[in-house]
Amino acid sequence: MKLTPPKIRSYKQDGRKIVMLTAYDYPGAKLLDEAGTDIILVGDSLGNVVQGKATTLPVTLDEIIYHAEMTARAVTNALVAVDLPFPYCQLGPDEAVRAGARILKETLADAVKFEGGENRSATIAALTAAGIPVLGHCGLRPQDIRQNGSYQVQRQRESLFKDIEAVEKAGVFAIVLECLESELAREATQVLSVPTIGIGSGPHTDGQVLVFHDVLGYSAGGTKIPRHVKQYADLRTVITEAVKQYADEVRGGIFPAKENSF
Ligand code: KIV
Repeated sequence: MKLTPPKIRSYKQDGRKIVMLTAYDYPGAKLLDEAGTDIILVGDSLGNVVQGKATTLPVTLDEIIYHAEMTARAVTNALVAVDLPFPYCQLGPDEAVRAGARILKETLADAVKFEGGENRSATIAALTAAGIPVLGHCGLRPQDIRQNGSYQVQRQRESLFKDIEAVEKAGVFAIVLECLESELAREATQVLSVPTIGIGSGPHTDGQVLVFHDVLGYSAGGTKIPRHVKQYADLRTVITEAVKQYADEVRGGIFPAKENSF
């Protein structure tokens, strides 16, 4: 059965952990959905892991809609959320509602994800008032990279609590907490009535999210794997070995064999 924002919220009361992963295309999303993922995020990490760029900033609204359309169409059970790419969280309520409405109108996605805290909570309230469900994102916010200069573990208690409380009040159905010191994430999870979904924020959140390519070891190589990632498969090796075997068989006249021919 299709998961909805109220159902995801109810997981917190039920003490049921939320399993979230990113996906960017039809086959990837279908596999994650069939394997029982609760939330599939078409993240603006698209810029890093699919487009090979250094930050998430270049991802455009048209690009994320292109990926969200094929991703959401593959999904039967999971809730599909789509990042509002830079600068749609920053431009104020009108632009954000227009962008969020395009995402819900042009794809089968269920919600948007929004990077921002207290200073952008009026925009979150405008989105939810417009019937666009919002998954919040506080703590480390990759869209602020130019301002902050680096990606750092977050330890600022006062500003974090102002942010999460404002974002909850604005109507989010859950909040992603990125790279918080573990005890801070535990406290945040205790004070909020909506679920928290951590990435690099330790074990005490109501759920966990990781990036598809990181979990599956599907990368171009040479990229440093962050400490918070656990790699559950090594697709880079699987793909390289398979392609080498294919090349050997083509060059050696082994493929195609009789059974591959008409
Ligand atoms: O863009 C993304 O993939 C994200 C997750 C890492 C939470 O924001």
